[in-house]
Amino acid sequence: MSHGIGTLIILGAGGDLTARLLLPGLGQWLQSSRGHNVELLGVGYDPMTDADWRARVTAAFAAGGASAAVCTKLAARTRYLQADVTLPDDLERVLGEAEGTPALYFALPPKVTIAACAALGKIEIPEGLVLALEKPFGTDLRSAKTLNRQLLKLVPESQIHRVDHFLGKSTVLNILGLRFANRIFEPIWRADHIESVEIVFDETLALEGRAGYYDKAGALVDMIQSHLLLVMAVVAMEPPSSVEADDLRGAMTQALRGARVWKGDAVTGARRARYRAGTIDGRTLPAYADEKGVDPKSETETLAEVMIAIDNWRWAGVPFVLRSGKALATRRQEIVITFRPVPHRPDGLTGDPGPARLRISLSPDTISLDLNINGEGDPFSIGRVSFDADFAGGDLGPYGEVLNGILTDDSTLSVGAEEVEECWRIVGSVLSAWRRDAVPIQTYAAGSAGPSAWKRPLWK
Ligand code: BG6
Repeated sequence: MSHGIGTLIILGAGGDLTARLLLPGLGQWLQSSRGHNVELLGVGYDPMTDADWRARVTAAFAAGGASAAVCTKLAARTRYLQADVTLPDDLERVLGEAEGTPALYFALPPKVTIAACAALGKIEIPEGLVLALEKPFGTDLRSAKTLNRQLLKLVPESQIHRVDHFLGKSTVLNILGLRFANRIFEPIWRADHIESVEIVFDETLALEGRAGYYDKAGALVDMIQSHLLLVMAVVAMEPPSSVEADDLRGAMTQALRGARVWKGDAVTGARRARYRAGTIDGRTLPAYADEKGVDPKSETETLAEVMIAIDNWRWAGVPFVLRSGKALATRRQEIVITFRPVPHRPDGLTGDPGPARLRISLSPDTISLDLNINGEGDPFSIGRVSFDADFAGGDLGPYGEVLNGILTDDSTLSVGAEEVEECWRIVGSVLSAWRRDAVPIQTYAAGSAGPSAWKRPLWK
């Protein structure tokens, strides 16, 4: 069924996510060839005048690079409604203001989203209503399952979009082309030829005023559970027969189903750390525990690493190492595929520059293939060469892509119910080991490469 969304309603309109990511993405989508006319309603707990809301929308559209007349028109007529979305009456009033089929975008903390969905269960749901939910989806496996059941009572799965903007990143989408539109990678894309896969998302950014959310989530949930496991699923899945939502989600879910923490041991298969005071690019940062809004007693990690095994024929024995952290020295955001050594190197070829590697950078969008070839000078001495290319970026940023799916009835880039539950299952044992303090939390200076003990890879 085509939903033909008439009104996008953003719950949590006054928040940081709306201003920084959603509205700029909406502006990009509106002025792209894929955009179409839509009304916009902002909804928030705090009062805001229509004029202030419109000024916010205009500024956010401009920040996303949108200048088309269609954006100006929408910004001039959008309205803001003050409401407590955990109250059925308020939600009914909000939905009553929508023109055409509404899409509700929950840009809210998980607990408020859960309460708002319970309130939705008490009112009449408009025909075709689309629900879009930001991560983290629930707070653990149990709550994710409950939320999935609750949502399915409201609308069918095809009208539920669980948002992971990493699936809208052009590099992640480019993995599909790289793997399945070339003959040369797929035959060696398996344990026989691949030694390890790293998926790293290190940021130089720190908390950026998000303590209220981050201090409850931490790096494991904020990044590994919500994003990197899904990137892993794209890297590890079997070739789908199409990129239609069902085929793609099915292939990703199957890969996730086989995944678990290495050796089933959350104590040796994962580690965590948080930053101390330090300096990044001349900026002095306080220790995480001293950041505004952080509970100094919380043991929230700002750097997390988990080693995953995927129990199937293709990947048995290959470590997938997922890591993400904040306030690190270098912004390193890439997928590194390390190939196994050759079975026999002819005697007389000297030099060993290390294994062949494929690096897929998530930002900027580039790819490098590091190969061993005959070096300069003595041709029998092996050297290294790197083939580098830029990936083509899409016309929309990640949030523009995600919104395109929500507003055009296309679930390809949305996360399925089972995928999200699998992601919680995979990190579940790690979360509980950390909660019972079975893995000590280490520290690193902000602006460093992480704890010095982490120089030794988890899989060695
Ligand atoms: C968000 C996380 O989902 O992704 C942030 O909550 C993180 O902590 C961000 O910084 C990274 O994504 P991007 O696209 O901004 O690089």
